[in-house]
Amino acid sequence: MYAEKVLSGMRPTGRLHLGHYHGVLRNWIKLQHEYPCLFFVADWHALTTAYDEPGNITASARDMIIDWLAAGVDPTQATLFIQSKVPEHAELHLLLSMMTPLGWLERVPTYKDQQEKLESKDLSTYGFLGYPLLQAADILIYRANRVPVGDDQVPHIEFTREIARRFNHLYGREPGFEDKARESVKKLGSKRAKLYENLRTLHQEKGDETALDNAHELLDEVQNLSHGDRERLFGYLEGSGKMILVEPDALLTEASRMPGLDGQKMSKSYGNTITLREDADSVKKKIRTMQTDPQRVRRTDAGDPDKCPVWQFHVVYSGEDVKQWVQTGCRSAGIGCLECKQPVIDAVLKEQEPMLERARMYEEDPQLVRNIIADGCEKARKQAQETMREVRDAMGLDYS
Ligand code: TRP
Ligand code: SF4
Repeated sequence: MYAEKVLSGMRPTGRLHLGHYHGVLRNWIKLQHEYPCLFFVADWHALTTAYDEPGNITASARDMIIDWLAAGVDPTQATLFIQSKVPEHAELHLLLSMMTPLGWLERVPTYKDQQEKLESKDLSTYGFLGYPLLQAADILIYRANRVPVGDDQVPHIEFTREIARRFNHLYGREPGFEDKARESVKKLGSKRAKLYENLRTLHQEKGDETALDNAHELLDEVQNLSHGDRERLFGYLEGSGKMILVEPDALLTEASRMPGLDGQKMSKSYGNTITLREDADSVKKKIRTMQTDPQRVRRTDAGDPDKCPVWQFHVVYSGEDVKQWVQTGCRSAGIGCLECKQPVIDAVLKEQEPMLERARMYEEDPQLVRNIIADGCEKARKQAQETMREVRDAMGLDYS
């Protein structure tokens, strides 16, 4: 139940570009082989800022999922779903809102930043203020402990940890916890129980974090424990209450510096992107017309790769030999810019080839995509429902 689990979400922005691929998707594709992964379309999150111009969220969501699949996210490895199709996220958001201090939300840095940045829009809304709490619910509802995000999102993960801690503190206490916990320890069997006790002592008396990790691992291995026992055993390691919600850690995505065609960060709002499913002619044209070192006016002028966005592409796509060839050739006017761009064109096209092929398969068979989404939503929902049963119980809402 508390084994390693990865969860991440993306707002539906329509077609993805190579910046998304190098910055996010490649990491997801790696993670899907290492952990159970849940990846979802954060469609409600899109409405927190775009409430006045929702556009076609359904189409954007579907397009985005096709891009994930095209990039190599594998629906047999990872669970792909849509947030609003798992309405339990909203229920958890509501229940958590009861115990969330307003000040915590107002202090989340994106709150004021985004309001200032998007000043043309009225973001003094209830939904926008609560957006980090919705994100917390997205994570906590799956008891996901690893959340791959960029560094702008780290405060949201920290906020999520605080919410989990507060929740466990408020609702994880039960009369006679210590006695019950000791009963739960017995259920581990004598050998494991002893190991558990030792690790717990090491952690509580010496603050030994490895002991804590080992104890978590030990509990993960035990199969036939009830939820109650498990929550108590996790909670007993660290304090005096059940651990109902799990504090997640950010899995910081190594910053990928995928440049845009103009050398700025690749971003739809700068109009400097190459989309994942861009056709070959358009890729060629975009790269051929890319700005180069502005000092290099004539073919005979020497250039400086450091002042040229094409060089940034070589950094991403080229091996040492090609990079050396560019450095020498550019600085000595030994190569022309079109010549220099060719290996980049080749590399981008080669990278896209398998993506285009997979995309074609999904474009031609929309039912396939629908099935993948329906399947993923169902799987996610089961997990979410399990957590919600315990959350309701803990908050006194057990009507069964
Ligand atoms: N807030 C994230 C973004 O804007 C998207 C997101 C929503 C998310 N819920 C999440 C990311 C949960 C990770 C985990 O990019
Ligand atoms: Fe840029 Fe290459 Fe031209 Fe040098 S040769 S200016 S690196 S495109």
